[in-house]
Amino acid sequence: MRKELHIIVLAAGAGTRMKSSLPKVLHRLGGVPMIEHVLATAQALNPAQIHLVYGHCGDALREALGSAPVQWVLQAEQNGTGHAVAVALAGVPDDAQVLVLYGDAPLVRPDDLDGFDEHSVFTAELADPSGYGRIVRDGACVAEIVEHRDCNAQQRTIHEINSGMLATRAADLKRWLAAIRPDNSQGELYLTDAVALAAAEGRAFTARCLPESDSVKGANDMLQLAELEDIWQRRVLGALMRNGVRLHHPANTRVRGDLRCGRDVEIDTGAVFDGVNRLGDGVLIGAHSVLRDCDLAAGTRVAPHCVLEGVVTTGACDIGPFARLRPGTELSAGCKIGNFVETKKARLGPNSKASHLSYLGDAEIGANVNIGAGTITCNYDGVNKFTTEIGDGAFIGSDTQLIAPVVIGRNATIGAGSTISHDAPEEQLTLSRSRQKSVPDWQRPKKRS
Ligand code: UD1
Ligand code: CA
Repeated sequence: MRKELHIIVLAAGAGTRMKSSLPKVLHRLGGVPMIEHVLATAQALNPAQIHLVYGHCGDALREALGSAPVQWVLQAEQNGTGHAVAVALAGVPDDAQVLVLYGDAPLVRPDDLDGFDEHSVFTAELADPSGYGRIVRDGACVAEIVEHRDCNAQQRTIHEINSGMLATRAADLKRWLAAIRPDNSQGELYLTDAVALAAAEGRAFTARCLPESDSVKGANDMLQLAELEDIWQRRVLGALMRNGVRLHHPANTRVRGDLRCGRDVEIDTGAVFDGVNRLGDGVLIGAHSVLRDCDLAAGTRVAPHCVLEGVVTTGACDIGPFARLRPGTELSAGCKIGNFVETKKARLGPNSKASHLSYLGDAEIGANVNIGAGTITCNYDGVNKFTTEIGDGAFIGSDTQLIAPVVIGRNATIGAGSTISHDAPEEQLTLSRSRQKSVPDWQRPKKRS
């Protein structure tokens, strides 16, 4: 029978090298805190229990992870990775299989660890191994792991590094960790020292060198985090391209969260996707547009430099360039939102258009409505928000203010430059502006001598 698997995830360190007030493992990779990637991998391995070791800024971590199905283990003082694992092991049965994962190494996937040996250290060959612990081998086994800062010149030339992840039996690890000493340059209790103790007992760990070396990389500082982000993006964007998405400039495209695309989707340079976005068949995203939590129907085209948040299109629409669409914007087929138009909680029926320079907030707009340039829904009286309703076929002349709450009837026409504070009836022309006059004998002022 397979032994119970207990996974220990280390996340108590201060992350000093990040030089940030946010705990290291809460820094985001692909839009999600690093620690959540690690926990997702842990969960996929179906353990009996996940033990999450926390300490530094523990409240922030507990708040961020809320209901994660983990055993919270407090490491009140961060005396090193060996100490952290020892604290967690107190809650692990002796005969359990233990797997240690590091909260700052978020690229590891369940497949990388699939069928791991019961007694192994996960390693990788890195072109640039600096900063990592080095694997000193004895054939297929690990004789010892030497931290970068404790390496001699010869050891520094070793390219096989310690990922930090290791698997073994709980009782053995408890025994070895009880024997480690903080005699290293940092004065900490190193988990890695358990490996040499195991070898001395004749129970050396095997080195399991992962072919996908990117998967082991950790983020200690902002440089490494940026490198990890690039790797993550290459994975996500690679999967999209393999599914037929045309990315004009993958190196300059960012997907944070989840992006689902239909067929023949095209995405230009500099596009950024946050949260959960869905793009239907043939959707086009122009250069430097930013989308968060949008659901765009087939055929929708977003021109360059648009910012869309919480937008739903239910048919093919044209958006932008330079449009800002905020949450609650819902556009039907054939809608056009042009440059310098802002919308918020605005629903537009089929074929309605706001082509230039408008603000549409808290607006219910019917079908075939034309919103002239410079139209503003005055939805806020300084205290409360009110709705503007515009019926099918209405024509709103340029530079109109619609003072909500207000209703514009079907096929109504509003004269340009109006301030509309009362409902406008169907089919009629409504306007509010003073009559134009000319002063024939008026003279321009002259410069005094
Ligand atoms: C560690 C390894 C190193 C390996 C590298 C891989 C040790 C001594 N060194 O170095 O061999 O190549 O990871 O990325 O293990 N943590 C705690 N409590 C502590 C200290 C750390 O929970 O008291 C946690 C941190 O939050 C972090 C993880 O353990 O998630 C690793 O700690 P870190 O200080 O980043 O170790 P490295 O110097 O990267
Ligand atoms: Ca680290």
